[in-house]
Amino acid sequence: MLEQFKGVIFDLDGVLVFTDHFHFLAWKKLADEEGIYFDEKINDRLRGVSRMDSLDIILERAKKTYSACEKAKMAERKNEFYKTYLARMTPEDVQKETRETLLELKKRGYKLAIGSSSKNTKFILNQVDLTSMFEAISDGTNITKSKPDPEVFLKAAALILEKPENCCIMEDASAGIEAGLRGGFKTIAIGPAIHDERADFKVQKFQDILAFLPALHR
Ligand code: BG6
Ligand code: MG
Repeated sequence: MLEQFKGVIFDLDGVLVFTDHFHFLAWKKLADEEGIYFDEKINDRLRGVSRMDSLDIILERAKKTYSACEKAKMAERKNEFYKTYLARMTPEDVQKETRETLLELKKRGYKLAIGSSSKNTKFILNQVDLTSMFEAISDGTNITKSKPDPEVFLKAAALILEKPENCCIMEDASAGIEAGLRGGFKTIAIGPAIHDERADFKVQKFQDILAFLPALHR
């Protein structure tokens, strides 16, 4: 039992919402337009990784070299495609079990925070009406280093006034599991991250985390 925990820090894309698929579709459109091979397997390497680092991974298969200015424009183009998907999101895009689990964790006394590499985090949370669920949001707009660097989680923990050892993080990306471990957090893996041997706990379904997080006695 993880009774010592006071805070739970969630990754966003691929954990709370399935925007990871929208990221794939937007990168795929950009890659197709540029004539660069890209598939779901390569896409798994982009999970948790910043926009510019993701682009660098995609460009590993490019036949030409792109200037910094061209790369900035491509990343912007991808984000414009991606935002067309985000604009259509509604509260229905959050699974009922996910919303109920977050509410239950709050009832049990946990402080909840977001630790996401995405610069679109606040927009997404508003679209799906999840903003009020979290006491703190640490995202791509307040970090200098992307996962697997622990910065985004360390900032989230600081915002909820808890030490890393008193928090666990939940991730669908190996880069995020590594970030959590490097920051001194316990890690819960879901989705593709369950294949990462380093994760402390693995769950098939979001609501399974309730088994690890009993009510806190304050
Ligand atoms: C992470 C995603 O949450 O955010 C990555 O897993 C993405 O795939 C990164 O590249 C940055 O997102 P954004 O929205 O700032 O382009
Ligand atoms: Mg993710």
